[in-house]
Amino acid sequence: KKLIIINGPNLNLLGKREPDIYGSSTFEDFFKELKNQFDSVSLDYFQSNVEGEIINKLHETGFSYDGIILNAAAYTHTSVGIGDAVKAIEAPVVEVHISNTFSREEFRHQSYISTNAKGVILGFGLQSYALAIQSFL
Ligand code: DQA
Repeated sequence: KKLIIINGPNLNLLGKREPDIYGSSTFEDFFKELKNQFDSVSLDYFQSNVEGEIINKLHETGFSYDGIILNAAAYTHTSVGIGDAVKAIEAPVVEVHISNTFSREEFRHQSYISTNAKGVILGFGLQSYALAIQSFL
């Protein structure tokens, strides 16, 4: 299986950013663990703080990969463009969040991704990504 994790804005600061909410490990370190844990999967990783770059990556991978694991971070709650891209591509997208967005501010309860996602996994910390990978196996 060929999968990609796409992370949105501010997730490059994982480990430093609000560690009480998002944990204290960097995504790069966690990604190494994920690759070891799922060594039968071809797993790629992309992060951008730029909305259009996330859309471009969805287009680039969305017709050849078996699945996409998308944490669009704050764009989840604002981006019609990313939502439309998820709808436009063929690869199934699993929406992921580290935190339980429903236990947080009201503005985090809205998602432009969920309607077109294969499923949504949230609130399990970085393990949310592992659960998302498992859903493709
Ligand atoms: C997040 C939740 C979003 O509301 C927030 O803007 C993020 C991270 C999460 O993984 O918990 O940046 O997507």
